[in-house]
Amino acid sequence: MTETARMGYISDDMKEALLKKLHDRQAVIGIVGLGYVGLPLMLRFTAVGYKVIGFDIDPEKVQALKQGHSYIKHIAADKIASTIKNGFQPTTDFARAKDTDALIICVPTPLNAHREPDLSFITSTMDELLPHLHTGQIVSLESTTYPGTTDEELKPRIESRGLNVGKDVFLVYSPEREDPGNPNFTTANIPKVCGGCTPACLEVGIALYGQVVNKVIPVSSTRAAEMTKLLENIHRAVNIGLVNEMKIVADRMDIDIREVIDAAATKPFGFVPYYPGPGLGGHCIPIDPFYLTWKAREYGIHTRFIELAGEVNSAMPDWVVSKVVDSLNNHGKPLKGSHILVLGIAYKKNVDDMRESPSVHMMELLRAKGAKVDYSDPHVPVFPKIRGYSFDLSSVALNEKNISSYDCILLATDHDDYDYVKIRKYAKMIVDSRGKYRTQYPNVIKA
Ligand SMILES: NC(=O)c1ccc[n+]([C@@H]2O[C@H](COP(=O)([O-])OP(=O)(O)OC[C@H]3O[C@@H](n4cnc5c(N)ncnc54)[C@H](O)[C@@H]3O)[C@@H](O)[C@H]2O)c1
Repeated sequence: MTETARMGYISDDMKEALLKKLHDRQAVIGIVGLGYVGLPLMLRFTAVGYKVIGFDIDPEKVQALKQGHSYIKHIAADKIASTIKNGFQPTTDFARAKDTDALIICVPTPLNAHREPDLSFITSTMDELLPHLHTGQIVSLESTTYPGTTDEELKPRIESRGLNVGKDVFLVYSPEREDPGNPNFTTANIPKVCGGCTPACLEVGIALYGQVVNKVIPVSSTRAAEMTKLLENIHRAVNIGLVNEMKIVADRMDIDIREVIDAAATKPFGFVPYYPGPGLGGHCIPIDPFYLTWKAREYGIHTRFIELAGEVNSAMPDWVVSKVVDSLNNHGKPLKGSHILVLGIAYKKNVDDMRESPSVHMMELLRAKGAKVDYSDPHVPVFPKIRGYSFDLSSVALNEKNISSYDCILLATDHDDYDYVKIRKYAKMIVDSRGKYRTQYPNVIKA
């Protein structure tokens, strides 16, 4: 006997009751994984009046939130504090899932040591939630993953509880889209793709997200929604790989790649500008494409574009470091023993997120070749503990004395906070991997 039958409900009533609760904003929303994705979502649901319970396995994060602190720089602590006042309940107690009407899963999806998908966060979360699921709930997966995850990993687990997906519990996949540090886009004004396991699931998914985002884009299945997210990120990875390769060619031909990109971008159709840099960073673009590579193998397909872009992009830190070596060499200096200051160790400008940052990889390469490496980053005052890297460093102040003391300054991340005029004025040599200095200066080398 299904739980529905046991409780004497008719499935359609279950769906209607949940839809009503969502529309009336009486539903209790559970957000699982309170990180870069989960926290903004929590803020949005609470802002429109829902009661939100936040689940995380990290007791320190839960404690910080309870005290009204934020551990993500672009999320202000006062926002967290006011949501706590308005009833937001962070917890490590997964039994509280029984008190929710919606469970939105935003846990990490990294690659393992063999660069294969590591779904353990998703599956362990689901296993923790499972005993507390009940009829009339919607479960939404937001973590980026390969097509088939929702159908193959979550649906069977839910059904193992005797709950019928599409009748008792509604299951959707709705990928997160975020551009941290970009002030033009918020959770509310970024359209949200949603795919359901069944038409009823999709209907409930649209009702859930329709309350908090301006536009929900329905697609025909959870697999289409999963693939949509991967296409978006693969599109970026491949195009960034292309401009990075173009940069190397242009450099050899003594052509300024940024001048070329800007000129090409005046074409009013058929061209989208992407900009080269020192390599890919962040939680998404260097990782997500390989989720598809792995899954495609099951279908006998080798994803050549993804692999090639990965190869080009992951070679960029070495190429930029070779520019540092050449520039020092032109001044009669070996890299070994030289003092190098890396500007910007977050993976992109104006954020404090260091995940997969190419700056750190370059620091490691420089140090391995005997350079004395420091860094300056207004968003990262102390070099944090990162798996695989160990730098006992704090951010160097950018005053005249410090700037002029380095043999080379490597501009790795172009934060807006830097005083670029001052840096150029006092630096002996700048290797610019971000195209920040567009005019030619004797002490600036484009990389
Ligand atoms: N950061 C982004 O800009 C971004 C954008 C789009 C999609 N995504 C995707 O969203 C997902 C989450 O990414 P994120 O950047 O928010 O990660 P994050 O590391 O910032 O946050 C994940 C949170 O989940 C918690 N957690 C880990 N295991 C858990 C478990 N079993 N149960 C409950 N909580 C658990 C962690 O403690 C952490 O607080 C990933 O799949 C990522 O690819 C991220």
